[in-house]
Amino acid sequence: MKSLGLNEIREKYLSFFEGKDHLRMGSFSLVPQNDKSLLLINAGMAPLKPYFTGQEKPPKKRVTTCQKCIRTGDIENVGKTSRHATFFEMLGNFSFGDYFKEEVIPWAWEFVTEVLEIPEERLYVSIYEKDDEAFKIWNEKVGLKPERIIRLGKEDNFWEIGVGPCGPCSEIYFDRGEEYGCGSKDCAPGCDCDRFVEFWNLVFTQFDKDEEGNYNPLPNPNIDTGAGLERLAAIMQGVTSIFDVDTIKAIRDHVCKIAGVKYQEDNKKDISIRVITDHIRAITFMASDGILPSNEGRGYVFRRLLRRAVRHGKLLGINKLFLKELALTVIETSKEAYPELEEKKEYILKVLSVEEQRFNETIDQGLEILKEYIKELKESKQNTLSGEKCFRLYDTYGFPIDLTKEILEEEGFTLDEQGFMKEMEAQRQRARSAREETTYMGSEESIYTKLNKEWTTQFKGYNTLNVSDAIIRAIVTNNEFINEAKENQEVSIIVDKTPFYAESGGQVGDKGIIKTDKGTVKITDCIKVSGNNFAHIGKVVQGSISVGDKASLEVNKSDRMATARNHSATHLLQKALRNILGNHVEQAGSYVSSERLRFDFVHFAPLTQEELKKVEEEVNEKILENLPINICETNIDEARKMGAMALFGEKYGEIVRVVNMGNYSIELCGGTHLKNTASVGTFKIISETGVSAGVRRIEAVTGQAALNYFREQENYIKEAAAILKTVPNQVVRKIETLINEVKNNQKEIEKLRAKISTSAVEDILSSKQDIKGVSLLTARFDELDMNGLRNMGDNLKNKIGSGVIVLATGKDNKVNFVVMITDDVVKKGAHAGNMIREIAKVAGGGGGGRPNMAQAGGKDISKIDKALNKAAEILSGQLQ
Ligand code: ALA
Repeated sequence: MKSLGLNEIREKYLSFFEGKDHLRMGSFSLVPQNDKSLLLINAGMAPLKPYFTGQEKPPKKRVTTCQKCIRTGDIENVGKTSRHATFFEMLGNFSFGDYFKEEVIPWAWEFVTEVLEIPEERLYVSIYEKDDEAFKIWNEKVGLKPERIIRLGKEDNFWEIGVGPCGPCSEIYFDRGEEYGCGSKDCAPGCDCDRFVEFWNLVFTQFDKDEEGNYNPLPNPNIDTGAGLERLAAIMQGVTSIFDVDTIKAIRDHVCKIAGVKYQEDNKKDISIRVITDHIRAITFMASDGILPSNEGRGYVFRRLLRRAVRHGKLLGINKLFLKELALTVIETSKEAYPELEEKKEYILKVLSVEEQRFNETIDQGLEILKEYIKELKESKQNTLSGEKCFRLYDTYGFPIDLTKEILEEEGFTLDEQGFMKEMEAQRQRARSAREETTYMGSEESIYTKLNKEWTTQFKGYNTLNVSDAIIRAIVTNNEFINEAKENQEVSIIVDKTPFYAESGGQVGDKGIIKTDKGTVKITDCIKVSGNNFAHIGKVVQGSISVGDKASLEVNKSDRMATARNHSATHLLQKALRNILGNHVEQAGSYVSSERLRFDFVHFAPLTQEELKKVEEEVNEKILENLPINICETNIDEARKMGAMALFGEKYGEIVRVVNMGNYSIELCGGTHLKNTASVGTFKIISETGVSAGVRRIEAVTGQAALNYFREQENYIKEAAAILKTVPNQVVRKIETLINEVKNNQKEIEKLRAKISTSAVEDILSSKQDIKGVSLLTARFDELDMNGLRNMGDNLKNKIGSGVIVLATGKDNKVNFVVMITDDVVKKGAHAGNMIREIAKVAGGGGGGRPNMAQAGGKDISKIDKALNKAAEILSGQLQ
């Protein structure tokens, strides 16, 4: 056997099946599209489900791919063994109702024995025990001896993963040799030991498993083949572990170099080396598909893997940020097959390092705290860490629960997962309500899946806004097909061809009119439904319409133009953002309607005023340059060569549409655009906000809407000017003057207030009475509350130096008294507490206090003066 590199094997496989008339397609995104049953793509067939079930028409009935996959089932075992991995590549050749067992079995054999030249005597196959047909083909057509064909049960040879297409399968095994075996007499393909490696799986996809667990026969039997590329490479390179395969070893070596350690010298270190090697592959690829770390769904998987890798970096003694450097090796080794790695390089590196940096800020503290917790557990002879503590590590120090669990387990402890879950409940609740409704392959099946499978709507709207000879194929109302719709009925109409753009790629559906001989329908939206049919949503405004009617369709031109302005401007905006902020800027979402545009993108800080201004200026410059907008159709490779930016997760077919604005912005896009950038008119940013960690949002307007925006702003200023009795260009100055005036007035008021209170004090002081040689002040301040009254009392006490002060207030109809007496007068026999008791009594109240200070309330506000007047008499009595 000749040794082959992993990249070579992939290429040989894909070109072999191209030779068998297959369409070679690039790997699909790791993010499932329209498939809520799956978090991450986990098999070559997963992104092709709609082709297997017949929901969508494949670009060709024979397809071959090398698909990036992630399986998260046993992350905690990754590293511990040299077999487990989360990330892997799966080679596949697929038949959508085309060839079946007769063809695919011999092809598999041909590739394995003739292209890879694996000696026949090292190969075995297994089949589903009841599959005599497969046996016959292996035995008679391929010429394999019966003892090399093993029949296995459903557990081994029936392939399914979650819901979707599945069926019996046949697998090919490589015999590593007796020395790898377990020695058991029954050791044969299917045995758990290391001797027989299953590396090729032919699934005879005949069923579609639904959510209730029913196996529904598919109209056409299909073929789904999967061969693990890393395993195949290990076989071809004569190594036993995928971590020894050329491309992966390059990453492994890089890990060792950064850490300054050697592989296979220390078992513990090997675990960490493998963890990092696998996880850096997974997260680099995840980032290249636009997944951002978060606390939910696939973002959480990303975060878990990244943080686990960082922690194992610590275990290896790496004391710097290292993911970025390693990711470069991943990109280098895989970019040939996955051009998105190179294309999104800056973005990937940014995403990884921002998240690594973030975790780095808390990991040491978190590890310290966890060490403390473990110490406490040991001391108190417990072995389970409380949910609350796990949550604290999660919430404050960013420790994914699995990481905490792993560290605890290393020390022989466990954690209270339920308690943790309870703490998480609030967050989960939020996440649950935010999660989108299942729309496909899930529970909510819409009426449109029942449309004739042969139908699709032809879109004519790139070149025209009118189609006069369409046929109404179906009318839906209230989730029901009907034959005729009458005036005022709300309907959704399926036709054979249309100029209406159906909502997609962030661009809203067109509005307009559908007319037949008998009636008119006002269309307010258009969406894509099953089988690429367009549903025109609206209301019959006159007459009636029927299935089979000939119809003319007309898109509302001014709406369409306004939408095109916003869409073309969005492309300019994206390019300007990349130029000004950096190439890590990637589209995270967009919404383009006739009124405005909204663009979400990856960036890790709010934009400064300066940056916003620059972006706005650059876009407007490009508008003024009147760049031609050229649109062409080509294949994805050509498009990439032209420098077209692909979006994350887009499923690009054989033909892609490239929108080129004077070579300034080149994007893959299916939307409707202007003929030149000048038609945007003008571009104005109206807001910049944050959407989530690492994602910013810009909203902007163009054309007429921009003009309206300016007018609105102008009106605000005009209004302000009118109120200020000035002209617009003097508004700011006028406001400044006014603010100054207000400030000055404020100062003046303060001054006057101080003066008034001083003069009040003066007045009281001058009305001082002399009672047996002691000064007595009495006064009433209805504008002061109790607090104010006490302050006033203190103030007066300081002023007179020696004497008795009796104050009252009737503020808010509440009666209060304060009596204060200086110490020298207390010595002469005066007592504030006793005095106030008698005073308050006059006003129907009571109270008491210390000799030098007392306060009390009263009931009768009309008696305040009388009460105050009593003070002299009481004081005189006390001084005897
Ligand atoms: N879908 C099959 C697998 O993943 C080929 O093994």
